[in-house]
Amino acid sequence: MKKHLTLWLGTILGLFLLTGCGLNTAASLPPLPTAAPTGLATAVPTLPPPTVNDGTAVANATPVVQLPTATEEPTVTPTITPSPSPTPTATPIGPCDARMPQDDLFTIVTQTYGLSRDYAPQDLVLLTDYLPVDVTLGYPTELRQVALAPLIQMIADMQNAGLQPWILSGYRSYSAQAISWEKWNREEPERAAILSARPGHSEHQLGTTLDFGSPELAGIVGIEDIEFHTYFYQTSEGIWLAENAHRYGFTLSYPRSAQELTGFFYEPWHYRYVGEEMATFLHESGTYLTEYQLINQPEPCIP
Ligand code: DAL
Ligand code: ZN
Repeated sequence: MKKHLTLWLGTILGLFLLTGCGLNTAASLPPLPTAAPTGLATAVPTLPPPTVNDGTAVANATPVVQLPTATEEPTVTPTITPSPSPTPTATPIGPCDARMPQDDLFTIVTQTYGLSRDYAPQDLVLLTDYLPVDVTLGYPTELRQVALAPLIQMIADMQNAGLQPWILSGYRSYSAQAISWEKWNREEPERAAILSARPGHSEHQLGTTLDFGSPELAGIVGIEDIEFHTYFYQTSEGIWLAENAHRYGFTLSYPRSAQELTGFFYEPWHYRYVGEEMATFLHESGTYLTEYQLINQPEPCIP
């Protein structure tokens, strides 16, 4: 599907968004709970893998339907200079005894902390087997089994509330992300780094991340068939997700205020499953996942 880029809209919106883009530093964080969500305390970041494209094919490319293919394409034009991703350079390199497994729900994945090129979750399920076509749009989206029941419940509750959530993207392999990254770099070299993750550095490779859509978006943006746009946050589905997704264990990975730390532009459609306890803690404390992870992670290590 052709994604439209609207410079004027992006400029206006970019300026608007900039006003809300403050860096949430550790100093401004609320105190961590005495009983933090379980698991994170043992997290050790993995070393970033090489960033070369291995050249393999995108598994879910389908010419028949207009897939969201490898990655979402926000259609605003950020006017922000990409900020460097957070790098815990001050910490020494330590042993990897407590290295966090890549299939942990809290595994950190940022522009600095990556996943192995051969990592793929072992419990992926096809959402078309569990959700109606008016939700999946028939796209062969995959998600880890661990997040399936909460997702189904969340979708049911959204529909019962009169909403029409779409699921536009889920698991993306290292190879799929590599192709997407190459495309962004080719077509939008100035913005690729804040709109798309390099292969090995996308939360979509975890299999616990979903991109949601809304039938209202096209009308709000004024572009037919548009699937991804920052104005998703204005849709009924986007509003509901922002207020309720934590109750089902999903958290917004790249909120408006987080760009300086995450390195990624605001993505109001991109939710990661971290379990109800963590998602609720993040929501109620006003913290976002990357911020929490960078504070609580153990030191980097060399395997
Ligand atoms: N657009 C997000 C950052 C990704 O590519 O995973
Ligand atoms: Zn996404």
